[in-house]
Amino acid sequence: MSLFSPFTLRDITFPNRVVVSPMSQYRAKDGFTNDWHLVHLGRFAMGGAGTVFCEATAVEDRGRRTAGDLGIWKDEQIAGLKQITEFLKAEGSIPGIQLAHAGRKASERRPWHGETPIDEDDTRLRNEHPWEAIGPSSLPYADGWPEPREMSLSDIQDVIQAFGEAARRSDDAGFEIIEVYAAHGFLLHQFYSPIANQRTDAYGGSLENRCRLLIEVAEAIRANWPASKPLSFRLSATDWIDGGWEIDDTLILAERLKSAGVDMVDCSSGGVGGRERPRRMTIEQGFQIQFAEEVRKKVDIATTGVGFVWDAAYAEDIISSGKADFIALARELLADPNWPLNAAKELGLDDDYQLWKPEFGWWLDKRDKLNSKLKFRP
Ligand SMILES: Cc1cc2nc3c(=O)[nH]c(=O)nc-3n(C[C@H](O)[C@H](O)[C@H](O)COP(=O)(O)O)c2cc1C
Repeated sequence: MSLFSPFTLRDITFPNRVVVSPMSQYRAKDGFTNDWHLVHLGRFAMGGAGTVFCEATAVEDRGRRTAGDLGIWKDEQIAGLKQITEFLKAEGSIPGIQLAHAGRKASERRPWHGETPIDEDDTRLRNEHPWEAIGPSSLPYADGWPEPREMSLSDIQDVIQAFGEAARRSDDAGFEIIEVYAAHGFLLHQFYSPIANQRTDAYGGSLENRCRLLIEVAEAIRANWPASKPLSFRLSATDWIDGGWEIDDTLILAERLKSAGVDMVDCSSGGVGGRERPRRMTIEQGFQIQFAEEVRKKVDIATTGVGFVWDAAYAEDIISSGKADFIALARELLADPNWPLNAAKELGLDDDYQLWKPEFGWWLDKRDKLNSKLKFRP
């Protein structure tokens, strides 16, 4: 198996194993897409990514992290998303959507505005108004953050229903895979991690109770999403915090998600314990691949590996040695949207630009041939 071999989940065949990891652009207004999203995502299809995921897309208005998050909480939002999926499919990529609810992380400033809660300064500068955040418990995300409102059972039902309706809209918009954002301290992660969940009802306490919402969300999506299309969950495989969520818990959750009709786990980590990086979390190339490997082998479910995987030979080794089925990249693709095509060339799989769109490849092949004859090359 290679980075450039196809892979099938349910009825969808992915042309290669390179995935554009969801990347929030914070550019939407009232959750609607615009030209920026089409160009941003479309460029990755031109660059050869087999799967292109749309950024975290809120299933409820109050579930947006920032005022610029994309949304899929109303039917009017379908048309813009459909324009994106049609372009991606026409260029040979599989379009995916990441369905999200920020929970207690909602009403936050964009990263370059400080990643702190929205207040009257944002109203003055950008006409953006803070809104009420909800969470499993009234524990704030970090020091200086407002307390979220503890969700009632009826809020929980509303969120489950919102994920189900968002799945139906995702299908109408032409997406071929859904990833549920249950990592990085977003609402569903807040439920399964003991760091954020202190409930004493059926949705808190034991591991089974803390995972209940995720299973119910998976079931609601499956009831509204064709059996022919795959469903993935992005999990934080560990909180990297003593007393928090650990990889062994992830194995149990992954097993239950699999029974609820989930086909893949995208293994990320961290994000629930405030803004400081946990002491146990040491970042190095591929530091989260161990989780994708363990989940894949012990639960027998497809996995995506992600995080600091930028080297083509290393990515190829992850796939060929069976550590993960897909590799998701984010920042390296911002630096080079042609990363998949360049990786194929570097691996010796595409010496003459056959994988490139001819509008690019024909010229680049000619350029290389000409270059090799030039006398004055340094
Ligand atoms: C611009 C940007 C936006 C991101 N937005 C999201 C997001 O919407 N959802 C998500 O799950 N992760 C998001 N992430 C995290 C990435 O998907 C990815 O997991 C992380 O950057 C590690 O991969 P990398 O080392 O290849 O960048 C974002 C990362 C970047 C750089």
